[in-house]
Amino acid sequence: MTENTTDDASTVLLVGASGAVGRHLGLQLAAAGVRVRTLTRRADRARQQGYVHGDLRDPRSLRAAAHGVDAVFLRWPSSTAEGAAAAVAALAGEVRRVVLLSPAGGRAAPSEEVEALLGRSGLPHTVLRPHGLAGDALRWAEEIRAGGAVRGYGGTAGLNLVDERDIAAVAVRALTEDGHDGARYVLTGPESPTQAEQVRIIGEAAGREVRWEEVPREAARHRMLSTGWPPALADGALDFIHARIAAPEPVTTTVQDVTGRPARPFRAWAADHAALFR
Ligand SMILES: NC(=O)c1ccc[n+]([C@@H]2O[C@H](COP(=O)([O-])OP(=O)(O)OC[C@H]3O[C@@H](n4cnc5c(N)ncnc54)[C@H](OP(=O)(O)O)[C@@H]3O)[C@@H](O)[C@H]2O)c1
Repeated sequence: MTENTTDDASTVLLVGASGAVGRHLGLQLAAAGVRVRTLTRRADRARQQGYVHGDLRDPRSLRAAAHGVDAVFLRWPSSTAEGAAAAVAALAGEVRRVVLLSPAGGRAAPSEEVEALLGRSGLPHTVLRPHGLAGDALRWAEEIRAGGAVRGYGGTAGLNLVDERDIAAVAVRALTEDGHDGARYVLTGPESPTQAEQVRIIGEAAGREVRWEEVPREAARHRMLSTGWPPALADGALDFIHARIAAPEPVTTTVQDVTGRPARPFRAWAADHAALFR
């Protein structure tokens, strides 16, 4: 990651640069000629060019990291909002704008609190609410590589997956252009294929015969609990899938509206990541 562009380029503080969206965002910002200053808690990495040492839970370090930047890309990394008020206060004194990645659905609780804090701070901000990430499909990679079947509950549930590169493209616009402050962008892919269709699409891309094998809800729950899911989260996830059997997730046109390019279909993500399923 480099902080190396023309002298009048704006500077963005990037939080979560190695995360699912952050790794694309760093590349896209650099390609757009934006200076990127990457926050990291790792002292070894912070010595590299373009990185700055800091922790969202240490407001003093965050304030120092944000000093002189125009905008911050923020993803709140933990399951509680503890420390968020101090972090927002630290940013409010230093930056002109924040773009918050706030996952839609049950994982959003701390992000909603961060959103409320941003609202009260008066700091101009944009919220990105993506649906499920296309990369979540990697949870099937082991079963698909083994060949045969992917076993799960809700094969006929229509779930929307948005490509991480499209989320990053929207973030670039919101970080660097006027006109996005106050927006709440719900980001989706262009369609909501069923889980069984998603598995078939990956199989076609990878050149493997794969089929969906339905698992009853109780058996799926048992398997989730045995792999460490807290019961309330497992039930929430299963309820979410159950509801999408009758009503597939809706699609928005926000990626196209903001970036001028249509959102990538899941088939494109599968083609680009086919090697991971072989
Ligand atoms: N649906 C959605 O909208 C959505 C969005 C994002 C993620 N997710 C899900 O969440 C999973 C994990 O998310 P992720 O891939 O983004 O990775 P992650 O493991 O949540 O985040 C890792 C990144 O966050 C930084 N970070 C973590 N805690 C920090 C702190 N206290 N202060 C400063 N930086 C901190 C790390 O930096 P250093 O280690 O360098 O300090 C690293 O760059 C994904 O696989 C995805 O399934 C869902």
